[in-house]
Amino acid sequence: MKKNSNLIELVNIETVYEGERLPVIYDVNLKVEPGEFISIIGPNGAGKTTLLETINGLLTYSKGKGFVFGKEIKKHKSEIRKEIGYVIQNFEMDPLAPFLCKDIVMSGRTGKIGTFRFARKKDWDKVWYSMGLVGMIDFANRPIGKLSGGEFQKILLSRALAQNPKLLLLDEPFSNLDYASRKQVETLLNRIHEKNNITILIVSHDLNFVPSRCKRIIVLEHGKIIMDGSREKILKSEIINSIFNGNGGKI
Ligand SMILES: Nc1ncnc2c1ncn2[C@@H]1O[C@H](COP(=O)(O)OP(=O)(O)OP(=O)(O)O)[C@@H](O)[C@H]1O
Ligand SMILES: [Mg+2]
Repeated sequence: MKKNSNLIELVNIETVYEGERLPVIYDVNLKVEPGEFISIIGPNGAGKTTLLETINGLLTYSKGKGFVFGKEIKKHKSEIRKEIGYVIQNFEMDPLAPFLCKDIVMSGRTGKIGTFRFARKKDWDKVWYSMGLVGMIDFANRPIGKLSGGEFQKILLSRALAQNPKLLLLDEPFSNLDYASRKQVETLLNRIHEKNNITILIVSHDLNFVPSRCKRIIVLEHGKIIMDGSREKILKSEIINSIFNGNGGKI
């Protein structure tokens, strides 16, 4: 166990995809304290998804050192991942997949239940609680392929919450949502952050939907963190204006 209070600590991290020569993210230094709510923004291809997947150990960094919950990521990947709720970008489901919403949410408990074991009452209690948090209890027995984009996004969030994570990594949770659904998910994230003792990192393309409880913004460009600071400071900065290029807060 490393002796410090950071929930995430990345030191000079560099990640290269297998078979590639050049790193996709490099010189990444990041410290996140427990309970922070951070937005990560940057243009397409900047390395936002790569950064999230380096943090949860799905990708292995080629240089530097990374710690999550005080444990070195490389050595404790699966242990760390059990405590991280990850909602991947553009997750698609076969519309004919024979799963009900409650089953998808329960699949978030797999790491906690363990292989070759069955879900118990406490697992179902957690599923109902998480579906309740996102207002989707009434959809429990609906086939997963029969949801709107916003409803599906809420089920994915609920699945991540059912895991009872210490850290929530959300990759573009607002994409494919209309204005009303974006607002709903934004409100929901604020509520989850307020009620649960949880740290949230959210990748977003739309500065109009930085949840109000998110006080820190990180800007990634060409694989590097080019800005890291308070919401007010970043949103006012020239660099942000040039990246967003007067595009109404959207990249
Ligand atoms: N499996 C892979 N193998 C090789 N290169 C990859 C792989 N996945 C992503 N990349 C490249 O890494 C770079 C960063 O990709 P990444 O998905 O992290 O960007 P991003 O900031 O999440 O972009 P977006 O906003 O489009 O989601 C891109 O140039 C991408 O083409
Ligand atoms: Mg991405």
